[in-house]
Amino acid sequence: MSDTAPLWEFADISKGYPGVLANDKVCIKLMTGSIHGLLGENGCGKSTMIKTLSGVQQPDSGKIFHKGDEVRISGPLAARDMGIATVFQEFSIVPTLSVGENIFLGNIPRSRFGVIDWQKINSESARVLKEMDVDIHPEAITGDLSVGEQQLVEIAKAIAMDASMIILDEPTAALGEDEIEQLHQLLRNMRSRGTAILYVSHRLDEVERIVDEVTILRGGQVVSAAGETKINVSEIVNAMVGGDVGEHYPKENNAINEVVLRATGLKTKSGVAEATFDLKRGEVLGLGGVLGSGRTQIARALFGVDALTGGSIELNGAPVRFKNEMAAIRAGIALVPENRKTDGLFFNFKASGNITAASLGEISRRGFLDLAAEAAGTARLMEELEISPQAEAKTVNFLSGGNQQKIVIARWLFSDAQILILDEPTQGIDIGAKIAVYKLMNALTRAGKSIVLISSDHDELLAMSDRVAIVHHGAIRQVVDAKELSHDDLVRASVSHNTHEYKGQVAL
Ligand SMILES: Nc1ncnc2c1ncn2[C@@H]1O[C@H](COP(=O)(O)OP(=O)(O)OP(=O)(O)O)[C@@H](O)[C@H]1O
Ligand SMILES: [Mg+2]
Repeated sequence: MSDTAPLWEFADISKGYPGVLANDKVCIKLMTGSIHGLLGENGCGKSTMIKTLSGVQQPDSGKIFHKGDEVRISGPLAARDMGIATVFQEFSIVPTLSVGENIFLGNIPRSRFGVIDWQKINSESARVLKEMDVDIHPEAITGDLSVGEQQLVEIAKAIAMDASMIILDEPTAALGEDEIEQLHQLLRNMRSRGTAILYVSHRLDEVERIVDEVTILRGGQVVSAAGETKINVSEIVNAMVGGDVGEHYPKENNAINEVVLRATGLKTKSGVAEATFDLKRGEVLGLGGVLGSGRTQIARALFGVDALTGGSIELNGAPVRFKNEMAAIRAGIALVPENRKTDGLFFNFKASGNITAASLGEISRRGFLDLAAEAAGTARLMEELEISPQAEAKTVNFLSGGNQQKIVIARWLFSDAQILILDEPTQGIDIGAKIAVYKLMNALTRAGKSIVLISSDHDELLAMSDRVAIVHHGAIRQVVDAKELSHDDLVRASVSHNTHEYKGQVAL
Protein backbone atom coordinates (compact mmCIF):
# COMPACT_ATOMS: atom_id res chain seq x y z
CA MET A 1 0.00 0.00 0.00
CA SER A 2 1.25 3.48 -0.75
CA ASP A 3 0.00 6.89 0.34
CA THR A 4 -0.06 8.42 -3.09
CA ALA A 5 -2.05 5.59 -4.72
CA PRO A 6 -5.68 6.39 -5.55
CA LEU A 7 -8.20 5.04 -3.05
CA TRP A 8 -9.58 2.91 -5.87
CA GLU A 9 -8.20 2.23 -9.29
CA PHE A 10 -10.13 0.35 -11.94
CA ALA A 11 -7.91 -0.70 -14.79
CA ASP A 12 -9.07 -1.98 -18.18
CA ILE A 13 -12.42 -3.21 -16.90
CA SER A 14 -14.42 -5.00 -19.60
CA LYS A 15 -17.90 -6.46 -19.30
CA GLY A 16 -20.07 -7.89 -22.03
CA TYR A 17 -23.70 -8.89 -22.17
CA PRO A 18 -25.07 -11.06 -24.95
CA GLY A 19 -24.70 -8.97 -28.08
CA VAL A 20 -23.07 -5.92 -26.49
CA LEU A 21 -19.72 -5.00 -24.99
CA ALA A 22 -21.08 -2.68 -22.28
CA ASN A 23 -17.66 -1.76 -20.82
CA ASP A 24 -14.59 -1.90 -23.00
CA LYS A 25 -11.28 -1.51 -21.09
CA VAL A 26 -12.59 1.25 -18.84
CA CYS A 27 -10.01 2.90 -16.54
CA ILE A 28 -11.01 5.15 -13.63
CA LYS A 29 -9.05 6.37 -10.61
CA LEU A 30 -10.98 7.57 -7.59
CA MET A 31 -9.17 9.79 -5.14
CA THR A 32 -10.08 10.46 -1.51
CA GLY A 33 -11.86 13.76 -0.98
CA SER A 34 -12.93 14.08 -4.60
CA ILE A 35 -16.25 13.99 -6.46
CA HIS A 36 -15.80 12.19 -9.76
CA GLY A 37 -18.52 12.43 -12.41
CA LEU A 38 -19.14 9.37 -14.62
CA LEU A 39 -21.01 10.67 -17.64
CA GLY A 40 -22.27 9.64 -21.05
CA GLU A 41 -25.38 9.01 -23.10
CA ASN A 42 -28.03 6.42 -22.27
CA GLY A 43 -26.67 2.92 -22.65
CA CYS A 44 -23.00 3.97 -22.73
CA GLY A 45 -22.16 1.66 -19.82
CA LYS A 46 -22.29 3.75 -16.63
CA SER A 47 -24.56 1.46 -14.61
CA THR A 48 -22.66 -1.57 -15.87
CA MET A 49 -19.46 -0.10 -14.47
CA ILE A 50 -21.19 0.67 -11.18
CA LYS A 51 -22.54 -2.87 -10.86
CA THR A 52 -18.98 -4.14 -11.23
CA LEU A 53 -17.61 -1.66 -8.69
CA SER A 54 -20.23 -2.63 -6.14
CA GLY A 55 -19.73 -6.37 -6.50
CA VAL A 56 -23.11 -7.04 -8.10
CA GLN A 57 -21.35 -8.65 -11.06
CA GLN A 58 -17.83 -9.71 -11.97
CA PRO A 59 -15.93 -8.06 -14.83
CA ASP A 60 -14.90 -10.27 -17.75
CA SER A 61 -11.40 -8.85 -17.47
CA GLY A 62 -9.46 -6.02 -15.85
CA LYS A 63 -7.90 -5.28 -12.51
CA ILE A 64 -9.08 -3.49 -9.37
CA PHE A 65 -6.69 -1.86 -6.90
CA HIS A 66 -7.60 -0.61 -3.43
CA LYS A 67 -4.95 1.77 -2.05
CA GLY A 68 -2.49 0.26 -4.48
CA ASP A 69 -3.20 -3.38 -3.68
CA GLU A 70 -4.93 -5.60 -6.21
CA VAL A 71 -8.25 -6.87 -4.86
CA ARG A 72 -11.32 -8.72 -6.03
CA ILE A 73 -14.78 -7.41 -5.15
CA SER A 74 -16.40 -10.80 -4.90
CA GLY A 75 -19.94 -9.70 -4.06
CA PRO A 76 -22.09 -6.94 -2.57
CA LEU A 77 -21.14 -7.92 0.99
CA ALA A 78 -17.44 -7.85 0.13
CA ALA A 79 -17.95 -4.39 -1.40
CA ARG A 80 -19.61 -3.22 1.78
CA ASP A 81 -16.80 -4.61 3.92
CA MET A 82 -14.34 -2.69 1.75
CA GLY A 83 -16.22 0.53 2.49
CA ILE A 84 -18.15 0.87 -0.77
CA ALA A 85 -21.73 2.14 -0.54
CA THR A 86 -23.91 2.35 -3.64
CA VAL A 87 -27.14 4.17 -4.42
CA PHE A 88 -28.41 2.25 -7.45
CA GLN A 89 -30.40 3.72 -10.32
CA GLU A 90 -33.19 1.25 -9.60
CA PHE A 91 -34.58 1.63 -6.13
CA SER A 92 -33.57 -1.13 -3.76
CA ILE A 93 -35.80 -0.13 -0.88
CA VAL A 94 -38.63 -2.35 0.34
CA PRO A 95 -41.85 -0.30 0.30
CA THR A 96 -43.56 -2.27 3.08
CA LEU A 97 -40.73 -1.72 5.57
CA SER A 98 -40.18 1.32 7.74
CA VAL A 99 -37.65 3.97 6.79
CA GLY A 100 -35.34 2.79 9.60
CA GLU A 101 -35.55 -0.85 8.54
CA ASN A 102 -34.69 0.14 4.99
CA ILE A 103 -31.72 2.21 6.12
CA PHE A 104 -30.34 -0.81 7.98
CA LEU A 105 -31.52 -3.47 5.53
CA GLY A 106 -28.95 -6.27 5.37
CA ASN A 107 -27.20 -4.83 8.39
CA ILE A 108 -29.91 -4.93 11.07
CA PRO A 109 -28.42 -4.27 14.51
CA ARG A 110 -29.22 -6.93 17.09
CA SER A 111 -28.82 -7.08 20.83
CA ARG A 112 -26.61 -9.68 22.52
CA PHE A 113 -29.48 -12.17 22.47
CA GLY A 114 -30.10 -11.80 18.78
CA VAL A 115 -33.16 -9.62 19.22
CA ILE A 116 -33.58 -6.79 16.70
CA ASP A 117 -32.42 -3.59 18.34
CA TRP A 118 -35.27 -1.29 17.35
CA GLN A 119 -34.09 1.52 19.49
CA LYS A 120 -30.77 1.57 17.70
CA ILE A 121 -32.41 1.33 14.28
CA ASN A 122 -34.62 4.28 15.02
CA SER A 123 -32.09 6.47 16.81
CA GLU A 124 -29.33 5.85 14.24
CA SER A 125 -31.75 6.44 11.35
CA ALA A 126 -32.95 9.63 12.99
CA ARG A 127 -29.33 10.75 13.35
CA VAL A 128 -28.55 10.14 9.65
CA LEU A 129 -31.76 11.80 8.48
CA LYS A 130 -31.02 14.78 10.71
CA GLU A 131 -27.49 15.00 9.34
CA MET A 132 -29.08 15.04 5.88
CA ASP A 133 -31.45 17.73 7.08
CA VAL A 134 -34.52 15.87 5.83
CA ASP A 135 -37.79 15.69 7.64
CA ILE A 136 -38.69 11.99 7.37
CA HIS A 137 -39.66 9.90 10.39
CA PRO A 138 -37.67 6.64 10.86
CA GLU A 139 -40.87 4.73 11.64
CA ALA A 140 -42.77 5.92 8.55
CA ILE A 141 -43.63 3.20 6.02
CA THR A 142 -41.34 3.82 3.08
CA GLY A 143 -43.97 3.04 0.44
CA ASP A 144 -46.13 5.89 1.75
CA LEU A 145 -43.43 8.46 0.96
CA SER A 146 -43.17 10.43 -2.27
CA VAL A 147 -40.70 9.24 -4.92
CA GLY A 148 -38.31 12.03 -3.96
CA GLU A 149 -38.45 11.08 -0.30
CA GLN A 150 -37.87 7.42 -1.15
CA GLN A 151 -34.79 8.52 -3.06
CA LEU A 152 -33.56 10.34 0.04
CA VAL A 153 -34.04 7.12 2.05
CA GLU A 154 -31.87 5.31 -0.51
CA ILE A 155 -29.19 7.91 0.02
CA ALA A 156 -29.57 7.71 3.82
CA LYS A 157 -28.93 3.99 3.56
CA ALA A 158 -25.57 4.58 1.91
CA ILE A 159 -24.65 7.33 4.33
CA ALA A 160 -25.48 5.21 7.38
CA MET A 161 -22.73 2.82 6.29
CA ASP A 162 -20.07 5.48 6.79
CA ALA A 163 -18.35 4.31 3.61
CA SER A 164 -14.99 5.47 2.28
CA MET A 165 -16.37 5.41 -1.26
CA ILE A 166 -19.93 6.25 -2.15
CA ILE A 167 -21.34 5.63 -5.62
CA LEU A 168 -24.51 7.41 -6.72
CA ASP A 169 -26.24 6.36 -9.96
CA GLU A 170 -28.71 9.13 -10.93
CA PRO A 171 -29.44 10.11 -7.32
CA THR A 172 -31.19 13.34 -8.23
CA ALA A 173 -33.56 12.07 -10.94
CA ALA A 174 -36.49 12.21 -8.52
CA LEU A 175 -35.38 15.26 -6.54
CA GLY A 176 -36.40 18.89 -6.79
CA GLU A 177 -33.94 21.78 -6.78
CA ASP A 178 -34.02 22.21 -3.00
CA GLU A 179 -33.36 18.53 -2.34
CA ILE A 180 -30.57 18.55 -4.92
CA GLU A 181 -28.92 21.44 -3.11
CA GLN A 182 -29.31 19.53 0.18
CA LEU A 183 -27.71 16.46 -1.34
CA HIS A 184 -24.86 18.51 -2.77
CA GLN A 185 -24.16 20.04 0.62
CA LEU A 186 -24.06 16.58 2.11
CA LEU A 187 -21.66 15.37 -0.58
CA ARG A 188 -19.42 18.39 -0.02
CA ASN A 189 -19.30 17.55 3.69
CA MET A 190 -18.42 13.95 2.91
CA ARG A 191 -15.77 15.09 0.47
CA SER A 192 -14.16 17.29 3.10
CA ARG A 193 -14.05 14.27 5.41
CA GLY A 194 -12.09 12.42 2.71
CA THR A 195 -14.78 10.25 1.12
CA ALA A 196 -14.32 9.36 -2.55
CA ILE A 197 -17.53 9.93 -4.49
CA LEU A 198 -18.52 8.60 -7.91
CA TYR A 199 -21.46 10.51 -9.31
CA VAL A 200 -23.69 9.73 -12.29
CA SER A 201 -26.29 12.19 -13.53
CA HIS A 202 -27.90 13.44 -16.73
CA ARG A 203 -28.55 16.82 -15.11
CA LEU A 204 -25.40 18.41 -16.43
CA ASP A 205 -26.11 21.75 -14.78
CA GLU A 206 -25.83 20.12 -11.39
CA VAL A 207 -22.87 18.00 -12.46
CA GLU A 208 -21.09 21.23 -13.35
CA ARG A 209 -21.77 22.57 -9.84
CA ILE A 210 -20.65 19.54 -7.87
CA VAL A 211 -17.93 17.45 -9.55
CA ASP A 212 -14.16 17.91 -9.34
CA GLU A 213 -13.31 15.73 -12.33
CA VAL A 214 -15.15 13.70 -14.97
CA THR A 215 -14.75 10.49 -16.92
CA ILE A 216 -16.89 10.36 -20.05
CA LEU A 217 -17.95 7.11 -21.73
CA ARG A 218 -19.25 6.54 -25.23
CA GLY A 219 -20.22 3.08 -26.47
CA GLY A 220 -18.62 1.45 -23.43
CA GLN A 221 -15.23 3.14 -23.87
CA VAL A 222 -13.63 6.06 -22.07
CA VAL A 223 -13.60 8.95 -24.55
CA SER A 224 -12.42 11.53 -22.05
CA ALA A 225 -10.46 10.66 -18.91
CA ALA A 226 -10.23 12.78 -15.76
CA GLY A 227 -8.68 16.17 -16.47
CA GLU A 228 -9.21 16.02 -20.25
CA THR A 229 -12.53 17.86 -20.45
CA LYS A 230 -13.25 21.15 -18.70
CA ILE A 231 -16.08 21.00 -16.15
CA ASN A 232 -18.48 22.98 -18.27
CA VAL A 233 -21.85 21.87 -19.66
CA SER A 234 -21.09 22.58 -23.33
CA GLU A 235 -17.67 20.96 -23.27
CA ILE A 236 -19.05 17.90 -21.48
CA VAL A 237 -21.91 17.58 -23.98
CA ASN A 238 -19.52 17.80 -26.91
CA ALA A 239 -17.34 15.07 -25.44
CA MET A 240 -20.38 12.90 -24.65
CA VAL A 241 -21.86 12.95 -28.13
CA GLY A 242 -18.63 13.48 -30.04
CA GLY A 243 -19.81 16.71 -31.69
CA ASP A 244 -21.95 19.77 -31.24
CA VAL A 245 -25.64 19.18 -30.39
CA GLY A 246 -26.74 22.74 -31.16
CA GLU A 247 -29.43 24.57 -29.17
CA HIS A 248 -30.21 22.78 -25.88
CA TYR A 249 -33.77 24.09 -25.70
CA PRO A 250 -35.10 24.38 -29.26
CA LYS A 251 -38.45 25.92 -28.28
CA GLU A 252 -40.70 26.80 -31.17
CA ASN A 253 -43.33 29.48 -30.65
CA ASN A 254 -46.41 28.02 -32.24
CA ALA A 255 -49.78 29.68 -32.58
CA ILE A 256 -51.73 29.46 -29.38
CA ASN A 257 -55.45 29.25 -29.84
CA GLU A 258 -58.64 28.74 -27.91
CA VAL A 259 -58.91 27.22 -24.47
CA VAL A 260 -59.21 23.42 -24.65
CA LEU A 261 -59.17 22.62 -20.98
CA ARG A 262 -60.36 24.71 -18.10
CA ALA A 263 -59.82 23.62 -14.51
CA THR A 264 -61.67 25.58 -11.87
CA GLY A 265 -61.04 25.19 -8.16
CA LEU A 266 -59.91 21.55 -8.36
CA LYS A 267 -59.75 19.70 -5.07
CA THR A 268 -58.80 16.12 -4.26
CA LYS A 269 -58.18 14.10 -1.12
CA SER A 270 -54.59 13.64 -2.28
CA GLY A 271 -53.79 17.29 -1.63
CA VAL A 272 -55.01 19.37 -4.56
CA ALA A 273 -56.50 22.49 -3.00
CA GLU A 274 -58.00 25.05 -5.32
CA ALA A 275 -56.19 24.60 -8.60
CA THR A 276 -57.50 26.99 -11.23
CA PHE A 277 -55.95 27.32 -14.68
CA ASP A 278 -56.67 26.93 -18.35
CA LEU A 279 -54.77 25.26 -21.18
CA LYS A 280 -54.91 26.51 -24.76
CA ARG A 281 -54.62 24.66 -28.02
CA GLY A 282 -50.98 24.53 -29.17
CA GLU A 283 -49.70 25.60 -25.79
CA VAL A 284 -47.13 24.21 -23.37
CA LEU A 285 -48.26 25.06 -19.86
CA GLY A 286 -45.53 24.45 -17.28
CA LEU A 287 -46.34 23.54 -13.71
CA GLY A 288 -43.63 24.98 -11.48
CA GLY A 289 -43.17 24.31 -7.80
CA VAL A 290 -41.05 22.50 -5.30
CA LEU A 291 -41.08 18.74 -4.74
CA GLY A 292 -44.27 17.84 -2.91
CA SER A 293 -46.02 21.05 -3.97
CA GLY A 294 -48.79 18.99 -5.56
CA ARG A 295 -47.89 19.09 -9.27
CA THR A 296 -48.15 15.33 -9.68
CA GLN A 297 -51.45 15.31 -7.77
CA ILE A 298 -52.87 17.92 -10.14
CA ALA A 299 -51.79 15.75 -13.05
CA ARG A 300 -53.49 12.73 -11.47
CA ALA A 301 -56.68 14.73 -10.93
CA LEU A 302 -56.73 15.81 -14.58
CA PHE A 303 -56.15 12.21 -15.68
CA GLY A 304 -58.96 10.76 -13.59
CA VAL A 305 -56.69 8.78 -11.28
CA ASP A 306 -57.64 10.74 -8.16
CA ALA A 307 -61.32 11.62 -7.84
CA LEU A 308 -62.28 15.28 -7.55
CA THR A 309 -63.82 16.30 -4.25
CA GLY A 310 -64.46 19.80 -5.56
CA GLY A 311 -64.15 22.02 -8.60
CA SER A 312 -64.75 21.22 -12.23
CA ILE A 313 -62.98 20.43 -15.49
CA GLU A 314 -64.20 21.58 -18.89
CA LEU A 315 -62.89 19.99 -22.05
CA ASN A 316 -63.52 21.93 -25.26
CA GLY A 317 -66.19 23.91 -23.44
CA ALA A 318 -68.11 20.91 -22.11
CA PRO A 319 -67.97 19.79 -18.48
CA VAL A 320 -66.32 16.40 -17.93
CA ARG A 321 -65.83 14.19 -14.93
CA PHE A 322 -63.52 11.21 -15.44
CA LYS A 323 -64.33 8.12 -13.42
CA ASN A 324 -60.93 6.60 -14.10
CA GLU A 325 -57.92 6.87 -16.37
CA MET A 326 -59.55 4.90 -19.20
CA ALA A 327 -62.21 7.60 -19.36
CA ALA A 328 -59.52 10.27 -19.56
CA ILE A 329 -57.63 8.37 -22.28
CA ARG A 330 -60.87 8.01 -24.27
CA ALA A 331 -61.45 11.75 -23.97
CA GLY A 332 -57.98 12.33 -25.45
CA ILE A 333 -55.80 12.93 -22.40
CA ALA A 334 -52.48 11.15 -21.87
CA LEU A 335 -50.23 11.09 -18.84
CA VAL A 336 -46.55 10.21 -18.93
CA PRO A 337 -46.09 9.36 -15.26
CA GLU A 338 -43.23 10.51 -13.12
CA ASN A 339 -42.41 7.20 -11.53
CA ARG A 340 -41.83 5.22 -14.69
CA LYS A 341 -40.20 2.37 -12.84
CA THR A 342 -43.42 1.38 -11.16
CA ASP A 343 -46.17 3.12 -13.10
CA GLY A 344 -45.02 2.90 -16.63
CA LEU A 345 -43.50 -0.24 -18.06
CA PHE A 346 -44.46 -3.80 -18.84
CA PHE A 347 -41.08 -5.30 -18.10
CA ASN A 348 -41.68 -8.58 -19.91
CA PHE A 349 -42.64 -6.89 -23.16
CA LYS A 350 -40.33 -5.70 -25.88
CA ALA A 351 -40.21 -2.02 -26.76
CA SER A 352 -42.98 -2.10 -29.37
CA GLY A 353 -45.45 -3.80 -27.06
CA ASN A 354 -44.82 -1.10 -24.50
CA ILE A 355 -45.09 1.72 -26.98
CA THR A 356 -48.42 0.60 -28.42
CA ALA A 357 -49.98 -0.34 -25.09
CA ALA A 358 -51.98 2.88 -24.85
CA SER A 359 -53.33 2.81 -28.35
CA LEU A 360 -54.32 -0.77 -29.06
CA GLY A 361 -57.68 0.50 -30.28
CA GLU A 362 -56.05 2.51 -33.03
CA ILE A 363 -53.80 -0.17 -34.40
CA SER A 364 -56.20 -3.09 -34.18
CA ARG A 365 -58.66 -3.63 -36.98
CA ARG A 366 -61.63 -5.88 -36.39
CA GLY A 367 -59.98 -7.15 -33.24
CA PHE A 368 -56.65 -8.12 -34.77
CA LEU A 369 -53.45 -6.25 -34.06
CA ASP A 370 -52.29 -4.39 -37.13
CA LEU A 371 -48.69 -5.46 -36.88
CA ALA A 372 -47.55 -3.39 -39.83
CA ALA A 373 -48.94 -0.20 -38.31
CA GLU A 374 -47.37 -1.08 -35.01
CA ALA A 375 -43.99 -1.71 -36.58
CA ALA A 376 -43.96 1.47 -38.68
CA GLY A 377 -45.10 3.74 -35.86
CA THR A 378 -42.79 2.35 -33.24
CA ALA A 379 -39.80 2.28 -35.59
CA ARG A 380 -40.23 5.99 -36.33
CA LEU A 381 -40.44 6.92 -32.65
CA MET A 382 -37.57 4.69 -31.68
CA GLU A 383 -35.45 6.39 -34.27
CA GLU A 384 -36.51 9.91 -33.30
CA LEU A 385 -35.89 9.29 -29.61
CA GLU A 386 -32.74 7.32 -30.39
CA ILE A 387 -33.97 4.32 -28.45
CA SER A 388 -31.40 1.55 -28.53
CA PRO A 389 -32.14 -0.81 -31.46
CA GLN A 390 -31.59 -3.61 -28.97
CA ALA A 391 -34.94 -2.63 -27.49
CA GLU A 392 -36.63 -4.75 -30.14
CA ALA A 393 -34.46 -7.77 -29.51
CA LYS A 394 -34.89 -7.90 -25.75
CA THR A 395 -37.61 -7.34 -23.20
CA VAL A 396 -37.32 -3.91 -21.62
CA ASN A 397 -35.99 -5.12 -18.26
CA PHE A 398 -32.63 -5.60 -19.96
CA LEU A 399 -32.38 -2.05 -21.25
CA SER A 400 -30.46 0.80 -19.65
CA GLY A 401 -32.53 3.06 -17.36
CA GLY A 402 -32.67 5.91 -19.85
CA ASN A 403 -33.83 3.72 -22.71
CA GLN A 404 -36.66 2.39 -20.53
CA GLN A 405 -37.80 5.94 -19.89
CA LYS A 406 -37.74 6.85 -23.54
CA ILE A 407 -40.06 3.91 -24.24
CA VAL A 408 -42.71 5.19 -21.83
CA ILE A 409 -42.54 8.61 -23.44
CA ALA A 410 -42.79 7.06 -26.90
CA ARG A 411 -45.96 5.23 -25.87
CA TRP A 412 -47.81 8.46 -25.21
CA LEU A 413 -46.46 10.18 -28.25
CA PHE A 414 -47.75 7.22 -30.25
CA SER A 415 -51.23 7.54 -28.79
CA ASP A 416 -53.49 10.07 -30.40
CA ALA A 417 -54.10 12.20 -27.33
CA GLN A 418 -55.05 15.88 -27.70
CA ILE A 419 -53.67 16.81 -24.30
CA LEU A 420 -50.45 15.34 -22.99
CA ILE A 421 -49.42 15.65 -19.38
CA LEU A 422 -45.69 15.07 -19.17
CA ASP A 423 -44.51 14.54 -15.59
CA GLU A 424 -40.72 14.98 -15.52
CA PRO A 425 -40.37 13.65 -19.08
CA THR A 426 -36.63 14.12 -19.38
CA GLN A 427 -35.63 12.71 -16.03
CA GLY A 428 -32.70 10.36 -16.47
CA ILE A 429 -32.41 10.69 -20.24
CA ASP A 430 -29.34 12.00 -21.96
CA ILE A 431 -28.96 15.35 -23.65
CA GLY A 432 -29.55 14.00 -27.16
CA ALA A 433 -32.80 12.34 -26.09
CA LYS A 434 -33.85 15.44 -24.16
CA ILE A 435 -33.53 17.52 -27.30
CA ALA A 436 -35.48 14.84 -29.19
CA VAL A 437 -38.28 15.10 -26.59
CA TYR A 438 -38.29 18.91 -26.93
CA LYS A 439 -38.54 18.62 -30.70
CA LEU A 440 -41.40 16.16 -30.36
CA MET A 441 -43.11 18.63 -28.02
CA ASN A 442 -42.72 21.25 -30.75
CA ALA A 443 -44.16 18.90 -33.35
CA LEU A 444 -47.11 18.05 -31.10
CA THR A 445 -48.00 21.65 -30.32
CA ARG A 446 -47.51 22.59 -33.97
CA ALA A 447 -50.13 19.94 -34.77
CA GLY A 448 -52.52 21.66 -32.36
CA LYS A 449 -52.03 19.45 -29.33
CA SER A 450 -51.55 20.89 -25.87
CA ILE A 451 -49.02 19.93 -23.24
CA VAL A 452 -48.92 20.23 -19.48
CA LEU A 453 -45.26 20.02 -18.53
CA ILE A 454 -44.12 19.21 -15.01
CA SER A 455 -40.40 19.61 -14.51
CA SER A 456 -38.11 20.14 -11.57
CA ASP A 457 -35.45 21.34 -13.96
CA HIS A 458 -36.19 25.05 -13.83
CA ASP A 459 -34.16 25.92 -16.90
CA GLU A 460 -36.08 23.35 -18.92
CA LEU A 461 -39.44 24.46 -17.53
CA LEU A 462 -38.81 28.11 -18.33
CA ALA A 463 -37.36 27.46 -21.76
CA MET A 464 -39.96 24.96 -22.97
CA SER A 465 -43.20 26.43 -21.54
CA ASP A 466 -45.32 29.22 -22.98
CA ARG A 467 -46.85 29.97 -19.59
CA VAL A 468 -46.00 28.69 -16.13
CA ALA A 469 -48.57 27.96 -13.43
CA ILE A 470 -47.06 28.17 -9.99
CA VAL A 471 -48.13 25.37 -7.71
CA HIS A 472 -47.93 25.88 -3.99
CA HIS A 473 -49.48 23.49 -1.46
CA GLY A 474 -51.65 21.97 -4.17
CA ALA A 475 -53.06 25.34 -5.26
CA ILE A 476 -52.59 27.35 -8.44
CA ARG A 477 -53.35 31.00 -8.03
CA GLN A 478 -51.27 32.55 -10.76
CA VAL A 479 -50.19 31.74 -14.27
CA VAL A 480 -47.28 33.73 -15.63
CA ASP A 481 -45.87 34.20 -19.11
CA ALA A 482 -42.69 32.07 -19.16
CA LYS A 483 -40.74 34.88 -20.78
CA GLU A 484 -41.53 37.18 -17.87
CA LEU A 485 -40.25 34.74 -15.29
CA SER A 486 -36.61 34.32 -14.29
CA HIS A 487 -35.07 31.27 -12.65
CA ASP A 488 -34.93 33.17 -9.34
CA ASP A 489 -38.56 34.30 -9.64
CA LEU A 490 -39.61 30.70 -10.11
CA VAL A 491 -37.74 29.53 -7.02
CA ARG A 492 -39.15 32.36 -4.95
CA ALA A 493 -42.65 32.07 -6.35
CA SER A 494 -42.80 28.39 -5.55
CA VAL A 495 -41.94 28.93 -1.91
CA SER A 496 -43.83 32.14 -1.22
CA HIS A 497 -47.51 32.93 -1.11
CA ASN A 498 -47.08 36.47 -2.26
CA THR A 499 -48.58 36.65 -5.70
CA HIS A 500 -48.03 40.34 -6.24
CA GLU A 501 -44.34 40.73 -6.75
CA TYR A 502 -44.14 39.05 -10.15
CA LYS A 503 -44.79 41.07 -13.19
CA GLY A 504 -46.43 39.71 -16.28
CA GLN A 505 -49.18 37.86 -14.47
CA VAL A 506 -51.94 36.59 -16.62
CA ALA A 507 -55.37 37.05 -15.14
CA LEU A 508 -57.23 33.81 -14.68
N1 LIG B 1 -28.64 -7.24 -17.69
C1 LIG B 1 -28.38 -6.90 -18.96
N2 LIG B 1 -28.50 -7.79 -19.95
C2 LIG B 1 -28.23 -7.47 -21.23
N3 LIG B 1 -27.83 -6.23 -21.63
C3 LIG B 1 -27.69 -5.29 -20.69
C4 LIG B 1 -27.96 -5.56 -19.31
N4 LIG B 1 -27.74 -4.43 -18.60
C5 LIG B 1 -27.34 -3.50 -19.49
N5 LIG B 1 -27.31 -4.01 -20.76
C6 LIG B 1 -26.87 -3.29 -21.96
O1 LIG B 1 -25.57 -2.79 -21.72
C7 LIG B 1 -25.40 -1.47 -22.27
C8 LIG B 1 -24.98 -0.51 -21.18
O2 LIG B 1 -26.06 -0.32 -20.28
P1 LIG B 1 -25.95 0.53 -18.95
O3 LIG B 1 -27.16 0.20 -18.15
O4 LIG B 1 -24.63 0.32 -18.32
O5 LIG B 1 -26.05 2.02 -19.53
P2 LIG B 1 -26.06 3.43 -18.77
O6 LIG B 1 -24.85 4.18 -19.22
O7 LIG B 1 -26.21 3.22 -17.31
O8 LIG B 1 -27.34 4.13 -19.40
P3 LIG B 1 -28.50 5.08 -18.73
O9 LIG B 1 -27.96 6.47 -18.77
O10 LIG B 1 -29.62 4.93 -19.69
O11 LIG B 1 -28.80 4.57 -17.37
C9 LIG B 1 -26.73 -1.15 -22.93
O12 LIG B 1 -26.60 -1.46 -24.29
C10 LIG B 1 -27.72 -2.08 -22.24
O13 LIG B 1 -28.81 -2.37 -23.10
MG1 LIG C 1 -27.75 3.61 -16.01
